[in-house]
Amino acid sequence: VKCLQKLDTSLRRNIVTNVVASSAEAPQKDETDEKEGRKSFSAVQVERQGQAERSVLMSCPPKINEKKFLKYFSRHGDIKKYFFYERNGLYAVVEFAKRECVESLLEATKIPCLSNEFPMPFKSRLLSLSHYGSAASPNQQSGQQCQPQTTIPIDQLIDRLSRKESIDQQVTSLMETYQLTDDNSRLRFLVCSLLQDIAAAYFPECTIKLFGSSVNGFGKLGCDLDMFLDLDDISGRRTKKQESGLFLEYQLKTVSTERVVTQRILSFLGECLDQFGPGCNGVQKILNAHCPLVRFFHHPSGFQCDLTANNRVAMKTTELLYLYGELDPRVRHLVFIVRCWARVHGITSSISGAWITNFSLTIMVLFFLQRRNPPIIPCLDHLKDLAGPMDNSMIEGNDCTFVSDLSKIQLQRNTETLDQLLHEFFEFYSAFAFSKMSIDIRKGKEQIKPVKNHLHIQNPFDSSLNISKNVNAAQLERFVALCQESTWLLEQTKTNTPSGKGGSASTPWGLATLLQPTNVAEIKSNRKRRVGLTSDRIKGLIESLKNGTQLKKS
Ligand code: CTP
Ligand code: MG
Repeated sequence: VKCLQKLDTSLRRNIVTNVVASSAEAPQKDETDEKEGRKSFSAVQVERQGQAERSVLMSCPPKINEKKFLKYFSRHGDIKKYFFYERNGLYAVVEFAKRECVESLLEATKIPCLSNEFPMPFKSRLLSLSHYGSAASPNQQSGQQCQPQTTIPIDQLIDRLSRKESIDQQVTSLMETYQLTDDNSRLRFLVCSLLQDIAAAYFPECTIKLFGSSVNGFGKLGCDLDMFLDLDDISGRRTKKQESGLFLEYQLKTVSTERVVTQRILSFLGECLDQFGPGCNGVQKILNAHCPLVRFFHHPSGFQCDLTANNRVAMKTTELLYLYGELDPRVRHLVFIVRCWARVHGITSSISGAWITNFSLTIMVLFFLQRRNPPIIPCLDHLKDLAGPMDNSMIEGNDCTFVSDLSKIQLQRNTETLDQLLHEFFEFYSAFAFSKMSIDIRKGKEQIKPVKNHLHIQNPFDSSLNISKNVNAAQLERFVALCQESTWLLEQTKTNTPSGKGGSASTPWGLATLLQPTNVAEIKSNRKRRVGLTSDRIKGLIESLKNGTQLKKS
């Protein structure tokens, strides 16, 4: 009885902590953020990785009594955070206060005894929670609060936006619907941490890091999970040879190039994920790509995963994008609107090929914001000038140095509103000299194109690389045509005000008009033109099939 009383007190303490954490503590956190300045990219990564290491992911029975659930898990220690989500069934993430709590929980976890199948006894933090005895008991509840982990269809979004009363409200609604939620970010880091456990079985000091839109601040619910296996931090790897005296080295197998090392390790890990990786399905090894990768689907989270190795420059690009997004809210807002607009009109695509990518589009938005008068964000060279000694970074002969402390960056005063900027963005790229000029966020000015690619966007950390060399003439023309048509459309709707209020169905206006799939195409309702656009799309598709697999890095 005493034991149960103790457990009950501890459980209540845990639940109270949870409730307090989500209601009373939240405003305080904002204040601290304001006072201390926004967190650097690496500080956010460290915090998220810590949370992930103390967390477990599990499938749950469809009906679950939350009180009993918490009581069960609290036996192993304080719970810092938990949430449920739906994905062909109910799943839960539980984050404990300490790593030891997870170890205690895993010690009490059984390997299933199946009648017709034989389990691979590979233990991980992906678990299944079941009931003993009958499936239903009077205390069981259903309908756990589940936040969506994917976006809503575009017609629902248009409807939602049409009911808003100002462009600002529309933007807020778009961001709330599309950007990654706190729970979704936690789930991303947790999946990455689960995969690291598998890789660490062979390379104990390795880390798997997230990069790309999962962590650069421009991620949309449902975006892929880009990861890279970092073997550089393995102790003794980059230490200098001593000049004299005895010393020891490991005996290792050798291969002809660093690329072969990457290919072998990825090939082997791909095999492990395929054979033993709980929840990992459809493993494809794409080892001959410019940046070799293993692609697979993580079933419990629903994430399409790309695992690369030796991709440190991409990590720096991710940090740079994060930094720009943190500097001014208009950066993320404009990127989200433009990405969403591009997706609706088929400028970007989920199939790889001659289309403009989200990454290229983001750089185009950043470049546009650098070209405002006064600029809304500084150029990369300026961020390099502000860097301190700790920010120095040379990767594969590329200088990737830029300031990481956001408080050192002084912005110029630019008061342009988001609807002005959106209009100007379309005008800017309607008239951009793509045939002669290259987009360069390092200098913040267009440069003469060094090579004859249709769209030329310099890789911020390696000016010899064009991140959009995949884009063909037809796709670029399409982008320019849609920019022109959207400029026109925004001019027409300038004086438009929201037509309906509140609950009733409303006529699309503002952002909703821009996101209507047929609207822009209908402006110049010229059949010939539309036939042209369709055939461009088919051409692009054929080209992508010819080119085969997507190359992740230029
Ligand atoms: N990257 C790069 N050079 C390229 C393509 C990609 O450096 N030519 C890096 C960028 O840091 C990019 C990351 O790889 O953010 C992941 O690429 P990708 O998944 O294509 O883009 P995301 O930014 O993650 O956008 P999405 O939401 O479409 O996945
Ligand atoms: Mg991505």
